[in-house]
Amino acid sequence: MANSSQETSSFMTQANALFRKNLIFQKRNIKTNIRLVMFPIIVCSLTVILQIFVTKNLKSINKLESCGCVCINENADGNCEKTECGIQHSTLEQMPYCSIPSPPRWPALLQIPSPEFRAVRTNFTPFTDLPDESCRNSGACPATLLLTGLNQSFGISLAANLFASGLDRKSFDNLDSLSNLYLGSDTSTGTTGFLEPAFIGNSPIYNIQPQCAPNSTFFVPVQIASVTIQQEVQCLGSLHLWRQSSSMIKDEIFKGYQDGNSERKINEIVAAFDFLNSDKNNFNVSIWYNSTVKNDDEDSDNKLVRVPRLVNAVSNAYLQLMKGTDVRMLFDFVKEMPKPAKSVFSVDILSDLGALLFTWVILQLFPVILESLVYEKQQKLRIMMKMHGLGDGPYWIISYAYFFFMSFTYVLCLVVFGSAIGLKFFRMNDFSVQFVFYFVYINLQIAFAFLMATSFSNVKTVTVMGHMYVLGSGIIGAALFQKLVQDHSFPRLGLVLLEIFPCFSLYRGLYEFGYSSTTDGMLWKDLRRNGMGEVLIIMVVEWFIVLLIAYYFDQVVSIGSGVRKHPLFFLTNFQKKPSLTSSQPSLHRRGSRVSVPMEKPDVSLEREKVEQLLLEPDFSYYPIICDNLKKMYPGKDGNPDKFAVRGLSLALSRGECFGMLGPNGAGKTSSINMMIGLMTPTSGTAFVHGLDIRTDMEKIYTNMGVCPQHDLLWETLTGREHLLFYGRLKNLQGTALAQAVEESLKGVNLFNGGVGDKQVGKYSGGMKRRLSVAISLIGYPKVVYMDEPSTGLDPASRYLLWDVVKRAKQNSAIILTTHSMEEAEVLCDRLGIYVDGSLQCIGHPTELKARYGGSYVFTMTTSLSQEKEVENLVRQLSPSANKIYHISGTQKFELPKNEVRIADVLQAVEIAKTRFTIYAWGLADTTLEDVFIKVAEGAQAYNVLS
Ligand SMILES: *[C@@H]1O[C@H](CO)[C@@H](O)[C@H](O)[C@H]1NC(C)=O
Ligand SMILES: *[C@@H]1O[C@H](CO)[C@@H](O)[C@H](O)[C@H]1NC(C)=O
Ligand SMILES: *[C@@H]1O[C@H](CO)[C@@H](O)[C@H](O)[C@H]1NC(C)=O
Repeated sequence: MANSSQETSSFMTQANALFRKNLIFQKRNIKTNIRLVMFPIIVCSLTVILQIFVTKNLKSINKLESCGCVCINENADGNCEKTECGIQHSTLEQMPYCSIPSPPRWPALLQIPSPEFRAVRTNFTPFTDLPDESCRNSGACPATLLLTGLNQSFGISLAANLFASGLDRKSFDNLDSLSNLYLGSDTSTGTTGFLEPAFIGNSPIYNIQPQCAPNSTFFVPVQIASVTIQQEVQCLGSLHLWRQSSSMIKDEIFKGYQDGNSERKINEIVAAFDFLNSDKNNFNVSIWYNSTVKNDDEDSDNKLVRVPRLVNAVSNAYLQLMKGTDVRMLFDFVKEMPKPAKSVFSVDILSDLGALLFTWVILQLFPVILESLVYEKQQKLRIMMKMHGLGDGPYWIISYAYFFFMSFTYVLCLVVFGSAIGLKFFRMNDFSVQFVFYFVYINLQIAFAFLMATSFSNVKTVTVMGHMYVLGSGIIGAALFQKLVQDHSFPRLGLVLLEIFPCFSLYRGLYEFGYSSTTDGMLWKDLRRNGMGEVLIIMVVEWFIVLLIAYYFDQVVSIGSGVRKHPLFFLTNFQKKPSLTSSQPSLHRRGSRVSVPMEKPDVSLEREKVEQLLLEPDFSYYPIICDNLKKMYPGKDGNPDKFAVRGLSLALSRGECFGMLGPNGAGKTSSINMMIGLMTPTSGTAFVHGLDIRTDMEKIYTNMGVCPQHDLLWETLTGREHLLFYGRLKNLQGTALAQAVEESLKGVNLFNGGVGDKQVGKYSGGMKRRLSVAISLIGYPKVVYMDEPSTGLDPASRYLLWDVVKRAKQNSAIILTTHSMEEAEVLCDRLGIYVDGSLQCIGHPTELKARYGGSYVFTMTTSLSQEKEVENLVRQLSPSANKIYHISGTQKFELPKNEVRIADVLQAVEIAKTRFTIYAWGLADTTLEDVFIKVAEGAQAYNVLS
């Protein structure tokens, strides 16, 4: 029966045990889980509802400000079956919102100042060649051009050809045919959605000519989509004025500029040319034109600047000067780029907010995983499992697989539900791309949670931090990171660095999905040009690295998962094993013995026994051997170092129960913690069946049971489930397991009334205590440590518990600490009394009583007046009796055993009864309690003295 625990439970057994436990744990958490899975479903549904609502409301607004539509097929009920939208059905206001696959063309125009602003003679300009101010009233002011250059005669003859089209007006019957004229407009260019605004408004178009003939105004039909406008074309004479230098031109332009100062007259010219060094062989010109039109407005991106025709005009003038008036450089038309339809108010919630929403949804898992990991650490459950034989490997793999399964289900719910209700975000993109992305991400997230869990040990902190992380990264992603992604001038390396944070790589991936879903979806081949490929590579590489670091930190720095390993633990195979082995142990130990000079004989005897044992080649039949185990806490803030354990040497044989007694803080728990691997000893070591606790703890755990001082239990699991889990860890299976669990439950009185099947959260303190004891004993461990197993138990349960421990003792060595002397006497074969970190005595309870007791306690109660009589009586019995207690008639004496016989005492009392009234009397042997107090006081007195 006991042999089943000999073997180390296999990897599969441990994994199986943990997996089943987690499954039950999750089943209990079903409400939380349902809430978790509901989250993506609610988010998806809300988005859809919101989208429908917004779209419906926007439709009415958009009717006016969108491309026009008409019904082209009405059914019998008068409902429209088919509508057609497009520029041909639009008003002028609607046109800019239509899609324009083939934009119309129009002749390039010149920018002409309005008639009231055109340059005239004023008193602030020195030039008399400008027209008189009176032309402004009639609107007949010419379009003035200023000229300069190095060779005036050349320049003037060049300018004579400017705007000379020499064309007959009869030939103009549509917009295209106007392109041979030099046309201009004084309209603002405004926002051009479709056509040059000059043709859409009702202001006239100017036909610029060196000289205007009378009655030269004519109309041209302009077809704009379905509308035809009669466009007025007015002749406008041009005036070319020579200036001596370009600085004079600048001055004139500057002075005529409208600057908001109403005192000044505005004098605008059309443009100015500087012919520089142009001659017959060389055409070199610089042009001044008014660009204020463009810069005026913040919406300037869409505005035209009417310059190209100016360039063409001066080039033609030069060409005609060189080659004659029948040569011309044609400038046929300008037109807009083809463009898609635009609607003013369009809200696509998912393409705008999808990345943010789903970042939140998926990140939501992170705090959940983190909390679960930290919970087991905070409640010390991880250590508890480890102490009962759960290796780090199975723990990691099962936890990982389990979180993966959970995350996978969660994301699957999200994607399946999202596509089911028709969200383009999920529908449009290739499912295999989505699968790979989410698969890689959830792996990274789990690894990241493992890494984070190493540095936290409080569930509350983790919960708050985790949710702040979720909220914060979503907001930073949307407010900052997305802008950087969209800003193409932001260096790519910067993005890569940001995407190292898992939250940003998630955001980036979701952003790309959202972006692609508005076009034609993401396929594998798109990965090369969007950010997704990059993100996937970053995540995969990071996953490996994070996992390694997480494992490393878990072993080295993790708070609360047991003994921390040396930072270079993976090199231990190359280092020398610790020198303290059984083959050559003596030197070291002899030296340390000197430091404990005042040792009691029984303690030194035990120490010698340990030393003898360790010299033997095989001492593994001794379940526990402690070899000068020491624990020292370095002093802080200038305090001296504190010794918790000052050299414990102890050898326990099989079937022995050793009781550690001692006042609080004497070092009992510290000693046990070292032996169960919760603390590393400062020096010395212990051997469990020959295995060193410093190096072979993992192997020791399989044969060890621990009942810690504070119950380490899962609130949501039942007592039976606890026992099943730990039983499986101890390699019990099938009927053996069921039987052992049953026995355990009965043994600790948790069987009746179905207590064993209630969740531990509902247990009373005493029930938890009994369960802890049962856990420590399940699977017949070879060594068992119990830290105050019976605290808080009622007497009945306590007696039951003692029976259990007594039975277990037959196969195991047990070390227990207790404050109950009764318990120590009943259970323990040997006792050790601890004071201030060292053992004061070791021995069987009766042996100790004999050694430290050595006297009877005689108590007698009489009336006050008879006190003297009693004292005389005692003095007669034993001259060296010692009064230890005296209060209102009750007196207590210590009578040395070698001076009195019990029969004498009885006789003396009988005689005394005849002389005075005795209310009560008693004679008692020394109790263990007396011994305990005596030893403790003695040691403390010694410590105070020294
Ligand atoms: C100016 O141009 C004319 C031709 O228009 C040319 O005959 C004359 O030599 C030029 N003068 C100078 C100084 O280059
Ligand atoms: C340029 O055009 C703007 C707006 O049409 C006008 O206010 C301004 O006076 C013009 N500047 C010159 C130098 O003609
Ligand atoms: C055009 O004129 C500018 C300014 O005077 C001068 O720097 C440049 O060399 C000239 N170009 C040619 C080709 O003559």
